Amino acid sequence: MKKFKIASIPGDGIGPEVIREGIKILNKIAEADGTFQFEFTEFPWGCEYYTKHGVMMDEDGMEKLKDYDAIYLGAVGYPGVPDHISLWDLLLRIRKGFDQYVNIRPITLLEAAPCPLKDTNREDVNMLFIRENSEGEYAGAGDWLFKGKENEVVLQNGVFSRKGTERIIRYAFETARKEGRTLTSISKGNALNYSMVFWDQVFEEVSREYPDVKTASYLVDAAAMLMIKDPKRFEVVVTSNLFGDILTDLGAAIAGGIGLAAGANINPEREYPSMFEPIHGSAPDIAGQNIANPLAAIWSASQMMDFFGYENYGKNILQAIEKVLIDGNVLTTDMGGTATTEQVGSQVVNYLEEML
Ligand code: NAI
Ligand code: MG
Repeated sequence: MKKFKIASIPGDGIGPEVIREGIKILNKIAEADGTFQFEFTEFPWGCEYYTKHGVMMDEDGMEKLKDYDAIYLGAVGYPGVPDHISLWDLLLRIRKGFDQYVNIRPITLLEAAPCPLKDTNREDVNMLFIRENSEGEYAGAGDWLFKGKENEVVLQNGVFSRKGTERIIRYAFETARKEGRTLTSISKGNALNYSMVFWDQVFEEVSREYPDVKTASYLVDAAAMLMIKDPKRFEVVVTSNLFGDILTDLGAAIAGGIGLAAGANINPEREYPSMFEPIHGSAPDIAGQNIANPLAAIWSASQMMDFFGYENYGKNILQAIEKVLIDGNVLTTDMGGTATTEQVGSQVVNYLEEML
């Protein structure tokens, strides 16, 4: 029987609570299918690990992870551990080390999901954000000169290589072509007169290879406004690391909130494992109470099924989530309900069982 080896990194706070539910869903699908199974190996890394061992992950952590088929991550972050340490020493180390240069974030308004926009139907919010995930403004390149002195200077450089820019844009064109949808590029060529002029140029060059894909281009500030005023004009969207980070949180807010937002970090060549995660953090304010919303983590499990080529199951998971929302009786407090994390997970399993 085919076996998918998954490294789970539940992490801190609500991470373990929501990952547990995602695993439940994946196991249910494998059981119903009968031709494959999942084998989960848990790694106890994260900030709580850091407070005990002084490192976010083991020294040879990347070596340990590299032969898995995928990584399933909860969230990292813990009061007392600086966020730049938790981000750089675990999350970014994995994203960069495994060349997960594509970050995919679906911004899809499911039926009955809370949407703060007036007069907006579910069909109006259906974007697929493809965010550059390996360089750009998050390359970690820069300097800190004359620290603490009067003439102190900090530099944070944006790094846009031809290879890095071309491959993300090409990936987006391939996706748009496959889905038969339009592709929008979001940049800022007027103010960022090197990086974003280059981005726009590469977008233009690559677009010539895809005459069948209809394109649009927006400046990032205008795009932020239009995502609120006229979200339906965005279908597949490609953008840089920083812009994508910000705009996808905006997208999460209009597509049901943080409890429903998932993201996949993909190494398209499949040379290294890809990583699937809810985009929310460790939520220390509600951790340990069994009230975290597991739907974002479950949505990222659906992305994992897509990645493994079982798009039908990926779709089933989304349909089951949607049924939970429509039913409305078993929801966590962030969605106006009183159910526990575990009850919501089990309700998704119930609806899945009817479909599988
Ligand atoms: P957060 O996403 O953890 O929480 C923001 C707010 O949303 C909180 O009020 C929280 O209770 C709520 N919330 C988040 N997820 C929820 C869920 N599944 N169900 C119900 N409510 C939920 O962001 P915050 O507070 O800025 O960061 C907390 C810690 O998490 C920090 O240490 C931060 O660095 C880390 N973090 C980690 C991320 C990751 O591992 N990918 C991403 C974002 C933050
Ligand atoms: Mg973010």
